[in-house]
Formats: sequence, structure tokens, C-alpha cells
Amino acid sequence: MEKPVPPLIQVTTALGSRGSEADKQKANAAAQNRTKIETRNLDFYYSEKQALFDISAKIPERAVTALIGPSGCGKSTFLRTLNRMNDIVLGTRHTGEVLLEGINIYDPQVDVVALRKRVGMVFQKSTPFPKSIFDNVAFGPRIAGQNNYAALTELVESCLRRAALWEEVKDRLNDSAMALSGGQQQRLCIARALATSPDVLLMDEPASALDPASTARIEDLIFELKSNYTIVIVTHNMQQAARVSDCTAFFYQGKMVEFGGTQTLFTTPKEQQTEDYITGRFG
Ligand SMILES: Nc1ncnc2c1ncn2[C@@H]1O[C@H](COP(=O)(O)OP(=O)(O)OP(=O)(O)O)[C@@H](O)[C@H]1O
Ligand SMILES: [Mg+2]
Repeated sequence: MEKPVPPLIQVTTALGSRGSEADKQKANAAAQNRTKIETRNLDFYYSEKQALFDISAKIPERAVTALIGPSGCGKSTFLRTLNRMNDIVLGTRHTGEVLLEGINIYDPQVDVVALRKRVGMVFQKSTPFPKSIFDNVAFGPRIAGQNNYAALTELVESCLRRAALWEEVKDRLNDSAMALSGGQQQRLCIARALATSPDVLLMDEPASALDPASTARIEDLIFELKSNYTIVIVTHNMQQAARVSDCTAFFYQGKMVEFGGTQTLFTTPKEQQTEDYITGRFG
């Protein structure tokens, strides 16, 4: 059961509705071509230190975009600019624009809480709340005012199913989330992110702390989720980027050196720096 999406800006209707089922199917078909998020000439600073330089990128809807590059090149910073998560870091500022479906998310009229519901985030280290499995997934909907137990139960089940965790936890929903394995906790965090009905999922190295079997499950999940969500994933692992993503952006020293189809970028990169990185000459 999907609730209507709250508009980012209360006065505009442009982002207010996801449309009918038929429209959704059409949107699905057009997915590869439509831009969901666009950054224009984005510069970003931590106080005096500039961390991103003139980033212009178009992130396609209902596809997976991977951000790769050596440590410290700005991948996480860029990811966090997409749902204003950097706002909580003191002394940060930016110039340029980040557009979600054409609307600048840094516009003073934008409701940041509504924005973060639309653009959910999963962090590198799984961060379940010290609550039950059920309460973790129900957390966001409850804050949004959903207190109907039957509706919450239905929503929790559907999110856990979409996160490929339901079968493993359905008999112990009241157990503490902290008792789950690392891979299960990470899928729980994905279920928790799905519970606020986002359109976009930002994932910062979601599988970096996991064993190969759990990593494979997360990768399968990402593949399944992309039919309904726009996904941006940071990964250090180039094989993973090649496996899960449709587009890849290569970052180096705060600049986006190259952005393109994953296969093209990995097989015939345009830039020498990209080639040097993917062939392991640095990073
Ligand atoms: N809160 C912060 N305050 C000041 N500088 C920061 C902060 N977070 C990141 N930086 C700096 O911004 C630059 C980009 O960091 P960022 O975390 O985006 O890199 P990254 O590509 O995600 O690296 P990694 O692969 O190691 O996670 C680095 O030089 C880093 O030191
Ligand atoms: Mg990072």
C-alpha cells in the first residue's frame, strides 16, 4: 500500500504525485532516458576546503548509478549532497544546483524532511536502532503519523519482503535488530529506508563490511530494486560496480572525471585517468 508522496514544496504540484499505474508503467519503459537527479556546476566546501569541483551529472531514473574512485575523492560527499545530508555538518556550503525532477532541492522553500523521505539513504555501516526488527522498519512511518497497527504490519512485511529479509525474520519480528547478522542488519536498513516510500535510494558502500554471500544478496537486491527505484551506490569495489550498475561516475580529487554507461567506462574509458584507475595503476 503506497501513500501519496508529500510534495517537496507545498505550493507546487510538480513533484506531488507519482501518477497512475499506467503512467508508472510508461515511466518504467522510458526509464533509461529520463533524468531523475541532475547536478549543475556543483562545488562543495567543508569550511575553506573545497571537496567537490564543478560537478555536472545526470542520474537516470530507475537505474543504478555507481560512484567509484580512490579514497577521499569525494564520493560520499557527492552522495550526501543529493539529499542534503551534508547540511548537518557545520561550516559546509555549496554553489551550483542539485535538481530532483527539475526542482532545486536547495531552494529555501524545499521541505528537507519531505526531501529525505523521497531520497532515502543507507550507510556503509549498518545502523539499526536498538529496537525490535518490527520497530526499526515501522520507525519512519510512525514518525510520519501512521499509528494504525494493521497498516503498519502490512507495510513492515512488504518492506522486509522487498529487502529480501522476510523469510529470515518473519517468526521473530519482536526480537532485537541488534541480534541480526551484519548482512541481515544491512538488509534491515534497506527495508527501513523503503518504509518511507522513497523514489531514490542512496547507498554508501552498503556491502563493504559483508562476506561474499551477504554481498551477493545485497547485489541481487539492488538489481531487483532498480525496477522501482533510482539507485546511486558508492563502491570501492570495481567488480561490484561492473556487476550492479548501469552507469558509472569516476571521481578523482573532487572532480568527476568521467560519467557514462558502465560497460563503456570499464571497457573503453575516454579519459586516461579513468583507465589508470580501472586498470589498477593507482588508487
Ligand atoms: N565532515 C568533514 N569535514 C571536513 N572534511 C571532510 C569531511 N568529510 C569529508 N571531508 C573531506 O572531503 C574529501 C572527500 O571526502 P569523502 O568522504 O567524500 O571521500 P570518499 O571518496 O567518500 O572517500 P572514501 O572512499 O575513503 O570513503 C576528503 O578530503 C575528506 O577529508
Ligand atoms: Mg566515502
